[in-house]
Amino acid sequence: MIKLFSPNVTDEALVAGEVIESGNWASGAGTENVRLFERKFADYLGCKEVVAVNSGTAALHLALSLINIKGKEVILPALSFVSTANVILYNGGIPVFADVDEETLCMDWTNLPITNNTACMIPVHFGGMKCDLHRTNCIEDSAHRIERDSITHTTCFSFHPVKNLAMPCGGAIAIPTNLQNDMDSTKCRGRLRARRWCGITDRVDDKYDVKELGWNYYMNEISAAIGLVQLEKLDEMNARRVEIADSYSCQLEFPCMPFSKNCSYHLYWIRVKNRDQFRKKMLEAGIETGTHYKPINQMSLYGAFRGFERTPITEKVAKEIVTLPMHTNLSDKDIDHIIKTANKC
Ligand SMILES: Cc1ncc(COP(=O)(O)O)c(C=O)c1O
Repeated sequence: MIKLFSPNVTDEALVAGEVIESGNWASGAGTENVRLFERKFADYLGCKEVVAVNSGTAALHLALSLINIKGKEVILPALSFVSTANVILYNGGIPVFADVDEETLCMDWTNLPITNNTACMIPVHFGGMKCDLHRTNCIEDSAHRIERDSITHTTCFSFHPVKNLAMPCGGAIAIPTNLQNDMDSTKCRGRLRARRWCGITDRVDDKYDVKELGWNYYMNEISAAIGLVQLEKLDEMNARRVEIADSYSCQLEFPCMPFSKNCSYHLYWIRVKNRDQFRKKMLEAGIETGTHYKPINQMSLYGAFRGFERTPITEKVAKEIVTLPMHTNLSDKDIDHIIKTANKC
């Protein structure tokens, strides 16, 4: 079976084994992998501060918690993973769904439902494609995109096992060097660090204080050790994804994801008319496919929020979208088989 996603594994078991043997599994317990990962990831992104957490959802939750969004509207694309919306509710905000651009499937900035009560937006780099970032008050959901771009807004990453940089679980918030919400990046880092571990601050030996509410979102040392190995290979892994996307884009006879060398290609999507039949035939040929995503505003929890009526492109695309295998364990033969099978379906 050709898997839809599959992590790239080289020395990960070795380094994870060393941390397990050491017994220092918790962040800051002695092996310093989390600190090292934060430093190296900040260097990779070219930004000042990175705060590591235990998921992309936690990253988005904490990043949004730095802005007061209680009772205020936050605009997000309807086509995303549900976490992008959940974190707005966690922080007491009101999600407002925007439609997507039909070519890139990133948020369409031409017709945003902005009101006087809009606090900020969460654009998603869908599939890894860099979306336009026209406004200043953004928190970027970069769960699908990891590139050496300069970070212009507070940006949240996911290191879920299927992501370009894979860990058993993990996420990070990258803070740009410029001022953010009247707080400089060092202050942001301090507050995020406290909030990722139960609000604990001013820790000296066994003494500490809690000034603000926090959560239990710290990254463990085993994940960070694996992340350090993945980070070393990230450019090479991303380059292979671009190569695969190039083959797909040139040879597939479907409306499909645009080709760009500046895309992380976490996902590769095509649009088909008879999706169930297409996916069934692919599976019979030994090829897993996916459907990313059911629009968030079609979920029962979110159906009642304003914005539903404004997303016709999302609705149309969501019925047709199919994601094809995209990972670095695909051989040229696998890619050829996927393309030939898809074109015959
Ligand atoms: C667009 C998007 N945002 C946020 C997340 C949440 O990341 P995590 O699964 O690490 O919590 C995901 C995860 O798949 C995602 O695809």
